Amino acid sequence: MTERIVILTGAGISADSGVDTFRDPNGIWAKHNVEDVATPQGFARNPARVHEFYNGRRRGLGSVQPNAAHRALARLEAEFPGEVLVVTQNVDDLHARAGSRNVIHMHGELAKVRNARTGQVFPWQDDLSVDSRCPVSGEAGVLRPHVVWFGEMPLLMNEIAAALDACDLFASIGTSGNVYPAAGFVAEMRTLGLAHTVEINLEPSQGASLFAEQIYGRAAETVPAWVDRILRG
Ligand code: APR
Repeated sequence: MTERIVILTGAGISADSGVDTFRDPNGIWAKHNVEDVATPQGFARNPARVHEFYNGRRRGLGSVQPNAAHRALARLEAEFPGEVLVVTQNVDDLHARAGSRNVIHMHGELAKVRNARTGQVFPWQDDLSVDSRCPVSGEAGVLRPHVVWFGEMPLLMNEIAAALDACDLFASIGTSGNVYPAAGFVAEMRTLGLAHTVEINLEPSQGASLFAEQIYGRAAETVPAWVDRILRG
């Protein structure tokens, strides 16, 4: 009897909402240089360029909606008799807007900013610039996107590790398995040997062979069908 489900999601679950993935042919990293816009060094070199990159993506949130895959995971959390945790690599707010409550954003969130000096995090819908002032200290030049950059530690890793250790079903949805530590979760699950593992993706990811089960297709179609199967027991 499945009692605890952990679901890792990546950009592929938001693709059917019209949100660009990172590594597909016309993805984000085909249009932007990772070092310039997604590293602490890039931000130190040219903060205005990094702010513009995230401002464009934050503005885009207003014109996209959750898709059937996000809604299916929210239904799973609402109707499944055990625990359901979504651990997302995505910085969009589509899981929450679909109704998921138990969500960990391990790479941060577009709709939040952080005071780089104090660590305080604030909701933020507007554009951010070097002149933006901290809502608490009033200081300018201290705010950064609350997004985890390459070379930085993802958020809430202790909570994630505890959830992985305790779960009996691990699903990975819409991720290419290129970026650690998320890409290593399935290997951890195999070592623990306590959970069934399933990859739900458009095509086999880097770690496809490590999953006990694979389901391929567009998430907006495959995830609702998978959730129906889980809820039917
Ligand atoms: N349905 C299901 N899967 C899809 C769909 C779709 N409609 N469209 C694309 N995919 C799959 C692709 O086949 C690919 O395997 O989603 C995956 C997206 O992979 P990436 O673009 O690498 O995104 P992701 O795995 O989330 O990247 C992880 O890398 O750049 C960092 O911080 C960034 O969180 C991101 C991390």
